[in-house]
Amino acid sequence: MFRWFDILAIGLAGFILRSYLAARKRARGLAPPPGPKPLPLLGNILDIPKTQPWGTYTEWGRKYGEITSITVLGKLIVFVHSHRAAKELLEKRGTYYSDRPNIPMMDLMKAHFNLAITPYSDKWRSERRIIDQSLRPSAAVAYLDMQKSRAHTFLRQTLDKPELAMEYLKHFTGAIVMSLVYGYDVADSGDPFIDTAEKLLTLASESILPGALLVNDFPFLQHLPEWLPGMGFMDRARYGQRLVVDLLHKPFDFVKEEMRLGTARHSLVRENLPEVTTEAEENALRNAAGSIYAAGAETTVGTLTCFFLVLLLYPNVQQRAQEELDSVIGQGRLPDYSDRPELPYIDAICKELLRWRLVLPLGVAHASTHDDVYEGYFIPKGTPVLANAWAILHDPEAYPEPDEFKPERFLTADGKVKEDPVLNAAFGFGRRICPGRHLVDTTIYIIVSSVLSAFRVEKAKDAQGNEIPVESAFTDTLISHPKPFQYSITPRSVNARSLVLATEPQAD
Ligand code: HEM
Repeated sequence: MFRWFDILAIGLAGFILRSYLAARKRARGLAPPPGPKPLPLLGNILDIPKTQPWGTYTEWGRKYGEITSITVLGKLIVFVHSHRAAKELLEKRGTYYSDRPNIPMMDLMKAHFNLAITPYSDKWRSERRIIDQSLRPSAAVAYLDMQKSRAHTFLRQTLDKPELAMEYLKHFTGAIVMSLVYGYDVADSGDPFIDTAEKLLTLASESILPGALLVNDFPFLQHLPEWLPGMGFMDRARYGQRLVVDLLHKPFDFVKEEMRLGTARHSLVRENLPEVTTEAEENALRNAAGSIYAAGAETTVGTLTCFFLVLLLYPNVQQRAQEELDSVIGQGRLPDYSDRPELPYIDAICKELLRWRLVLPLGVAHASTHDDVYEGYFIPKGTPVLANAWAILHDPEAYPEPDEFKPERFLTADGKVKEDPVLNAAFGFGRRICPGRHLVDTTIYIIVSSVLSAFRVEKAKDAQGNEIPVESAFTDTLISHPKPFQYSITPRSVNARSLVLATEPQAD
């Protein structure tokens, strides 16, 4: 009589053997990219670190070369650690490397509406087109006033309740995305739409990295009876499905209702909906909108939270930035977009924020759709390929003292901004590169310049008046955020306080 774990063991061994033999057959004697030595059957599963995996992958890159691989239970995973190799594979050979790996947990959550994990297909192309049209640089200009108005709301809220500033940051990024996608005004706190997106992103981010969930490596587990130990992922999947339905339908239905009433504000959905004639087109629009909503807020929040952490860890950066602001725009007004060319140090802070602690240190995995050979190494069709943005942007040759926050690395000797095309690695590569990157750029600038103009950000003090030390600690999930830290935010001056209070809420 077989017990359940006998069935599991046989299924497991068969699965590993099949994957191994299929890859061997196609490799025609060519080796995969080098990497740590795998164990029989298990491969490198025990080598995958639970904390800050990108650090370990970067060390492997330094040890074995710019392209490395591991096997996890018979399946190859490739890591690309240099900008050169990432451009060659993911951009120049884009027809081969623009797919996404199939992640069974995402299937179970019915999360494939999200463009970021949609396979490379006609569906992806039509949804990506809608997103690109509304986020390309010429279109993003239309959002500048709205972004500035949201930044001013953030300043007023933070002046009133500085202890909630990190919550207000989520509100700020969520409000921008919800306004441009649905013309929806989020509530000052506890907005149900923002709450749904945050929960779904957290769930997905915890479920996606290699080794995060067993069902991703052994899809047959989803067919086992749910009373077995270790099947808790099914509850997680059902919870995810409910969040997906809410995320996709509730704000979309809101726009339809507003259009029926004649009160809908300008938004991606409102502008595109009148062109929709079929159910497939409506689904594509709903998915494109939901993808921006899902991808847009959490990532930017991570970078902006880092900004506050930086101000605590590097008081000299705050001081130099405020000196620049005072000398260029004085203390009689808040900064605007037109000031940016005169504020190179502020610009350099925005760049260094994208580099220093990446919100997506390993990007989002691509997958190959053809067998390929790169510099003598065999990469079979269907292999997940991760561009290690952390390794690229922490290469000590290109970025000396890479763990230090040094905006001046993006300035020339005469104080001008140095453009660095490699920095785009923070947004991925090739056809799947982040379509939100232009919006991110203007969002980071307006918060960085406005906060530095208005506030002094310092370490919090305990009851005895001693500074509370701040640790530079980050979460280990796909989207890596700073762990909570204590801080003090006060207006820089009586004048700065009046400027913040004088900002008016505006209709977008
Ligand atoms: C600091 C903020 C952000 C960072 C660092 C970031 C980074 C990334 C990265 C690394 C990818 C994967 C690229 C690849 O596969 O090579 C991506 C994909 C994506 N991002 Fe962003 N992102 C940010 C903000 C945003 C915003 C604000 C939006 C929308 C308004 C957005 C929308 C998307 C979408 C829709 C995808 C999927 C693209 C596809 O698969 O075709 N992102 N992002």
